[in-house]
This record gives sequence, structure tokens and C-alpha cells, in this order.
Amino acid sequence: MLARLLLALAGVLLMTDPASAQRFVGNERPAWRLVIHGGAGVIQRDRLTPEQDAAIRAALDRALQAGSAVLERGGSALDAVEAAVQLLEDDPNFNAGRGAVFTYEGSIEHDAAIMDGRDRRAGAVTGSTHTRHPVTLARRVMENSPHVFLRGLGADQFSVEQGLEQVPNEYFHTPERRRQWEEFRARPSAEAFDIDLKYGTVGAVALDREGNVAAATSTGGLTGKRWGRIGDSPIIGAGTYADNRACAVSATGAGEFFIREGVAHEICARLRFTRDSAQQAADTVMAEMRALGGTGGVIVVTPGGDSIYSFNTPGMYRGQASPAGRSVAIYGDE
Ligand code: GLY
Repeated sequence: MLARLLLALAGVLLMTDPASAQRFVGNERPAWRLVIHGGAGVIQRDRLTPEQDAAIRAALDRALQAGSAVLERGGSALDAVEAAVQLLEDDPNFNAGRGAVFTYEGSIEHDAAIMDGRDRRAGAVTGSTHTRHPVTLARRVMENSPHVFLRGLGADQFSVEQGLEQVPNEYFHTPERRRQWEEFRARPSAEAFDIDLKYGTVGAVALDREGNVAAATSTGGLTGKRWGRIGDSPIIGAGTYADNRACAVSATGAGEFFIREGVAHEICARLRFTRDSAQQAADTVMAEMRALGGTGGVIVVTPGGDSIYSFNTPGMYRGQASPAGRSVAIYGDE
């Protein structure tokens, strides 16, 4: 009798809490998952020295460790994606945080977003210039402001008011990005946005032990970006999306095409409204985006425990973790 009463109560609770509808109970609950990326592009063995290859793999693994530690102890997907992206923002190998690419004028302007699949709350910033961890600024926008998306000076001011760590813009500058910027400035303008660029945007998606998903993305954008250009990364539904009813997605690549295709939301929509697997949904949307002329990649996790990559470039810096272990990869044939 008591058991029946408890079962009925559990049923009512599940029906009245939409977020719970996608949760798994008892033995069915999937283990946690974490997937990260550090950018996609013309990344081939003959373009990386053994030292660069090793440094990138080590950095990806550190980010996986940081996010996994959160998930392993029962922390939230949201905390895990923030922790993983912070590590990647601190690493000069990637186009985010320290190591971000230079604008046309020769400074650094960050874009970042974060999204919680439980209730589709989201926070994003564009053109932030002094916050050490733009992903954390995006999270503060989500949690401590009535808004979703802040830009430029306003984002910087909000960051100070939130007490986030501030650094001089020069902190983000690295010799390699300066070299790329100088090369860019020396080109005829028609050739400016070279397809050969490696898009080093970073991102993470996670599934926690409660069955909740989250996504985060952070980037410096494109070398030589001007006129206040904004890429896909901070645009909710383009480069970043999370929805417990479907999946969490973070993208990297030629932002203009990801915006036009609405890639991250489109993948989630396919999962909700078709019988596609996560891989089929991501491959289909990436092919449609490719048909527009865009290149890049996505990482996806679902509340059911699927965790996949899809990319149409020669390589993508990427990694996955679960209770079974961690793995990282760079080239397309890995
Ligand atoms: N995908 C990053 C950007 O286009 O800014």
C-alpha cells in the first residue's frame, strides 16, 4: 500500500516538473558525459610540430579532468562546462581567453555563451575586453542579470560590478596571434578571411548524474574581425544551445554560416521532432551548413547519454570523458 502511494506520488512529481520528464531513474540513469572542443579547421599532421601536438593534447586532457572532477562528484553539467572552458580560456593554444585572435585594430574582444538545459536559461557576452574568463561572465549574465546577452562596454562594466577577475587587454595577447594578425594585415583585403585559418574556438557540453545537460562556448572570433563583428559562439541557437528535451551543442567554425543555419538549435530540433540519432542529426545539419559554404564542427551530448562529434574540416581539437575514461584527438582519422 505504502509502496503504491510512493509510486503514485513519484508519478505526479514527474508529470508536474517538465525538466524531470527527461530524467532517468534508478538503474536506467546514464552515467555522466563530457565532450570538449578546441576548434576545427585545416589541422593536419604536417602543420603541427610534435611539441604543438603534445601541448594541445595535454591542454585538452587538463580541461577534461577539470570538468570530469565536477561531474564525478555529482556536480552539475553547468559547473562542469564552465570549469572545462575556463581551462581552455587560460591556455594560449586556443582562440579564447588568453591566446584569442586579434581584431583588425589589434586588440582582443571575446565572445562567450553558456546555457542550462534544465530550463533553457542562457547568458552571453560579445566584445568583452578585460574579463579573464568570459565564460564566467556569460554565466553571471545568466544568473545575476535580467538579460541574456550583453555587449562591449556594458558587458565590461557588468563584469566589474560582479567582481570578476579583470586583466589588462595585453594579458590576452600572444606572439603567435600577433604574427597571424600581422600576416592578415599584409594581405590584400579581398583575401582577408582565409579559409585556411584554424578556428580555435573552445567549447564544452556535459550531461550530469541528474540527467541535465549544459553547453558553453568561448572565442576571440576571427583574426582581423572589424566593425563589431559577432560570430556564432555567443548567439544562442547558433553556436551554443542546451535543452534537456533534446541535447546540448557547442560549435566551432566559420561563424557566419553557423548563424545562418541556426546550427545548435537545428540539431536539438531534429532530435525533438525526428527519429534521428544524435550523430544523424548533427551530420545532417552540418551537411546543410556545408552546402551554404561553411566549415567547422560541433560537439553534442543528449540526456540519454549519447556523446558525439561531427565536423567537415580535416581536423578538430576534441576530447571526451565519462566514468569509463578520457580520450583526446586532433586529426580527422583518429
Ligand atoms: N566560430 C567562432 C566565430 O566565428 O567567431
